[in-house]
Amino acid sequence: MRRKLVAGNWKMHGGLARNRDLLQSLIQAVGKGGKSDSAVFVPYPYLAQAQDMLKGTAIAWGAQSLSEHAQGAYTGEVSAAMLVEFGCRYVIVGHSERRSLYGESNETVAAKFLAAVNGGLTPILCLGETLAQREQGVTEEVIGGQFDAVLQAAGVGGFANAVIAYEPVWAIGTGRTATPQQAQDVHAFIRGRLAVSDPVLAERMQILYGGSVKPQNAAELFGMADIDGGLIGGASLVAQDFLAICAAA
Ligand code: 13P
Repeated sequence: MRRKLVAGNWKMHGGLARNRDLLQSLIQAVGKGGKSDSAVFVPYPYLAQAQDMLKGTAIAWGAQSLSEHAQGAYTGEVSAAMLVEFGCRYVIVGHSERRSLYGESNETVAAKFLAAVNGGLTPILCLGETLAQREQGVTEEVIGGQFDAVLQAAGVGGFANAVIAYEPVWAIGTGRTATPQQAQDVHAFIRGRLAVSDPVLAERMQILYGGSVKPQNAAELFGMADIDGGLIGGASLVAQDFLAICAAA
């Protein structure tokens, strides 16, 4: 039985005072742990605050991206080793906003995934198709291509300590959630794709769903056989909503 993980991606939201309130509420409710795991992904400047408040609790924290390079003249970038110094356990890689707004190709995402693994972080690899791609019937082709680029770069061994998140682009921040069956179908496809290389690893791989997860739809989504939790955007900024989603897991 895979443990469920509920991860809050704050995106570019937050502020010291507001974070403190939000984290305090989370610590009170799920800080001692429970049947599922939780994590928050804060903007880089708040990693120290997250570390300060969350160390010793059951809530993990991480960053929303990282550089594919270890160090050097890369203005504005942050390395895996820096994230480790701030106690990060996880890092999100290949979020659709990074792909579409910042031009991250499948190859760049693969390099970042590898940098995370080599740096001792657990990457949460995001995969997802656009609405146009779904309507053209190429969802599996797109997801398969995104996945294969990482498999090629990192090898199946690179997935030994990784998490995958299926985030259909058309469901992110739109209020239009994938139906549990739509999500389940893609999750099963991803697990099957990994199983070709390593069936045992595929069976224990956590595959999260992300895209307009709310307290009202979380339980149904998390009830599907291959959905092992969620990557939560908007609802992770409201303590009550995020905690309700954690409870659903
Ligand atoms: P929303 O939950 O706001 O749709 O965002 C999902 C997401 O992109 C999480 O990474």
